[in-house]
Amino acid sequence: MSASTHDVVVVGAGIVGLTAAWRARCAGADVVVLDPAPGDGATHAAAGMLAPVMEAGFGEEAHARLGTASVALWPAYARELEAAAGLASGAVGLDTSGTLAVAYDADDRAALRRMLDLHARWGLGSAEIGADEARRREPGVGPRVTGAAWVPGDHRADPRAVHAALTAAVGPERVVRRGVASLCWSGGRVTGAVDDRGDTHRAGTVVLAAGHASGLLFAGARTRPVTGTTLRLLVDADRAPRVVVRGAVQGRPVYAVPHPPRPDGSREVVVGATSDERGADHLTRAGDVYALLRDVRVLLPGLDEAVLAETTTRARPGTPDNAPLIGWAAEGLYLATGHHRNGILLAPLTAAAVDHALGARDAPSVAAAEAAARHADPLRYLTSAHPADQTVGAGPGGTA
Ligand code: GLY
Repeated sequence: MSASTHDVVVVGAGIVGLTAAWRARCAGADVVVLDPAPGDGATHAAAGMLAPVMEAGFGEEAHARLGTASVALWPAYARELEAAAGLASGAVGLDTSGTLAVAYDADDRAALRRMLDLHARWGLGSAEIGADEARRREPGVGPRVTGAAWVPGDHRADPRAVHAALTAAVGPERVVRRGVASLCWSGGRVTGAVDDRGDTHRAGTVVLAAGHASGLLFAGARTRPVTGTTLRLLVDADRAPRVVVRGAVQGRPVYAVPHPPRPDGSREVVVGATSDERGADHLTRAGDVYALLRDVRVLLPGLDEAVLAETTTRARPGTPDNAPLIGWAAEGLYLATGHHRNGILLAPLTAAAVDHALGARDAPSVAAAEAAARHADPLRYLTSAHPADQTVGAGPGGTA
């Protein structure tokens, strides 16, 4: 058993954890990231929608505001990350051309209109369009679509490309393939983490970014797994949608997110996603694949010709109010978890909050960090004046 000392230990190497690690590196910190399977949690399944508008939920206006604050930061986040990773502009697949929302039957159309009313009340910017206009924007839209809206503020990026860029920006040698068994506490503050081989990684700051498993290390992080399945289809570019298409088919939500054309001319289209609370296994249910394909082919019949290249099931980190946990939970313990359906969208907001926590202050990041402090403060779930009371051990391999 050995011990090492760092400025910052990040627990979890998904997009959120690596974003925190990258920002800490930018602030000059010596950082190590611990994860038994980097990028193999929710990041691996994510389609890459940056959708504060269509993901807005009734009664969750504050949450929607976090999303709009973060989507505004995405272009600068992508630019800076691509430069830090030594990649060409566009490498993380950011596309800000908007999203098409569609409806199948009269009930789906009525539900879409209720969403559009909510957007109008909250100033989120969406507009109902006719089915002809929908087909002009996306020729692949099927004949059974009866209603549509254009959502200019919802975008997309490629989560796996973002993860690869973050790994390069952090430095792959700083991402260590080990789980975390427990956090170290001393005198009411967190002082490090013990990994699954018994080695201690001491640090002035531990960032807990272990997705749905965060609560296994610190009970004050009230995370739970919300499982989702996505499908990766490969399709000839002329049959792939050009924009993100999302909608409802008899009340069931489905989306298709196209990524940039590949060298062979095909495109990957990510279709998602189921959402259930059955636990955190990675097993894909046949019925989930069937339901996603049945519904997406109604909206985009050209996808029938696609190759089904991958089925992926992972768990999002939900919280009791579905808002994230970003901020200090105890001396030495910073939470960056609970991003639920919006981990990719909220990565720049998380970066801004970490920058702020570490003392960096440029104007857009201050506004976003203040939004995070208002609506994502982990202290809302601390049940004890002594956070150390809420520590727990995850056991070997406990991060996700
Ligand atoms: N962001 C969409 C989802 O979690 O399915």
